Amino acid sequence: MMPSTSSTPRIIAFGCDHAGFLLQQQLIAKAKSHGFDVIDCGTTDQASVDYPDFAERVVDKILQHQAEKGVLICGTGIGMNIAANRHRGIRAACCYDVNQTVIARQHNDINVMCLGSRISDEAIAFDCLMAFFQTDFDGGRHQKRLDKIDNNVA
Ligand code: RB5
Repeated sequence: MMPSTSSTPRIIAFGCDHAGFLLQQQLIAKAKSHGFDVIDCGTTDQASVDYPDFAERVVDKILQHQAEKGVLICGTGIGMNIAANRHRGIRAACCYDVNQTVIARQHNDINVMCLGSRISDEAIAFDCLMAFFQTDFDGGRHQKRLDKIDNNVA
């Protein structure tokens, strides 16, 4: 299933708006210290920006096979989630706790995790990030359902 291939590097692309900037900085530092390779797609400070611009950058990294998975952070994660899911081959979900994240990987094979800086603190967000990377897709009946979604995308 698009877009991951065996040649896709295990790299996380991060993107955020102004509301997500501080949480993104914290998560990037923590991810690097745990051995992840990171592409920082911005934003670069807390000046007001538009979240769809950063969702696009992260989606491009995944669709170009430069990153395996993406993390998008805004105030709620919701705007980023809407923007990312406009793209064929992207399966994004808001992840507010570990259980939700595990099921989103097992059943929905998410390749983008959306976080809300106004909802989750750094510790929960990092636990979700670990679950995002450590949980495999179950395949089987779930693959058939994802195929139906791809077939319905214009
Ligand atoms: C910005 O204030 C806020 O609207 C944005 O970060 C996000 O929550 C949108 O979904």
